[in-house]
Amino acid sequence: MSVYLVLQRLRAALLAQDYEKMYSIPSRCRPLALAYEPVNLYNCITGRRNVFNFTAMPWLYRGLASLTGHTVALHLYTLFQMKQSLPRIAVEYALGAELTQVCLDVGVLEDHGGQVWSTLRISPVGGGKLLFSDMEVSLLRNRSARGVYIGRDSYVFMEWLRRNLIGRHFRSALDLCCGTGIQTFVGASVAERALGSDVRPNAVRWAQRNAALNGITNVTFVVSDRLTNIEGQFDLFTVNFPYDFGQEYGIEFTMDIMRQLDRYLLPNGEFYGNTISWIDARRRDVLAEAIQTQLRAVPLDIELMPIQYFLNLSNREYVERMGIVKGIWYLIRAKKRRDGILSSKLQPMHPVRAVLWNFYVAVTRAENNIGRLRSGLRRNQ
Ligand SMILES: C[S@@+](CC[C@H](N)C(=O)[O-])C[C@H]1O[C@@H](n2cnc3c(N)ncnc32)[C@H](O)[C@@H]1O
Repeated sequence: MSVYLVLQRLRAALLAQDYEKMYSIPSRCRPLALAYEPVNLYNCITGRRNVFNFTAMPWLYRGLASLTGHTVALHLYTLFQMKQSLPRIAVEYALGAELTQVCLDVGVLEDHGGQVWSTLRISPVGGGKLLFSDMEVSLLRNRSARGVYIGRDSYVFMEWLRRNLIGRHFRSALDLCCGTGIQTFVGASVAERALGSDVRPNAVRWAQRNAALNGITNVTFVVSDRLTNIEGQFDLFTVNFPYDFGQEYGIEFTMDIMRQLDRYLLPNGEFYGNTISWIDARRRDVLAEAIQTQLRAVPLDIELMPIQYFLNLSNREYVERMGIVKGIWYLIRAKKRRDGILSSKLQPMHPVRAVLWNFYVAVTRAENNIGRLRSGLRRNQ
């Protein structure tokens, strides 16, 4: 049986178990996520998204899922979204022995001494859609970058696009850096046709599979390094920019695409982006400053909307060398102007949100310092 047919059967089996409802279950455990718990709980009770959210109390959501009769769906979510293993007997109970064996035969599942792992991530995105992406079992221990990306930012951006776009009509949509196709499909739901692109052939392959599995017919996908393989003009242009440490604080990709928007947007065309900026020791917001100083010749109305502050210490040497105090996660909205003038507006973060996210940055810094102290002590012993 071909892998595609197996995925079709797996999708049907998951939907039959109400896998979609797992949209409201947080998938990542972090003891210091307690401050975020009221949001998780509210989202869980009201059926809103928690996928990829942190929780300090996973047992609470497990309990709620069991109480509402979704124990099997929760097991499947543990396997396919949380990327944890399950005993083979539990997988057979949830999927049936025959489908479990078929999944093992084609490599969708792997059995390691009676514990079964999934090589795929299957993410519920609402509206009956499930998005598949690959991630090798070895990735569970070694976080190298082989799988197709999907994360909390993918969901936040997708939901923001839905809020802004549903009920509107566009002729043609372009989604650059499409990954699984999560935002391309929002474009496809409001446009006559949509084009998604990614530099990684593996991402394009999964996006194509996701379109076919979810019955979306007005999309095409191409491999393209940035805009090199993209032709034509669009009235809707979306990008969830790749995260990159680089010479210019990693904002170079965002600025490069925004500089070219005039060429790819139809008159009155709209651009939506998801990206990050950094605040340095002089309180300078590097992206806001670059937009104001480097895009003067681009006829756009640009709005920068801050979502949250964060601190990424995975590259601590870089953060210290560049004097980075914290990051800002931004959503960008831009519209092509007829009069050829740039106008840019930076929305302030709501003061309550600012206090909460500054607290989050302080906690992340403290966690990291404690971790460093511990490993230093261990080395000295
Ligand atoms: C943050 S992920 C976003 C993926 C997807 N849109 C989402 O939200 O889940 C960034 C994507 O950009 C792609 N990418 C990285 N460099 C690229 C380039 N030079 N041109 C096109 N795509 C690129 C990566 O393969 C990855 O899929």
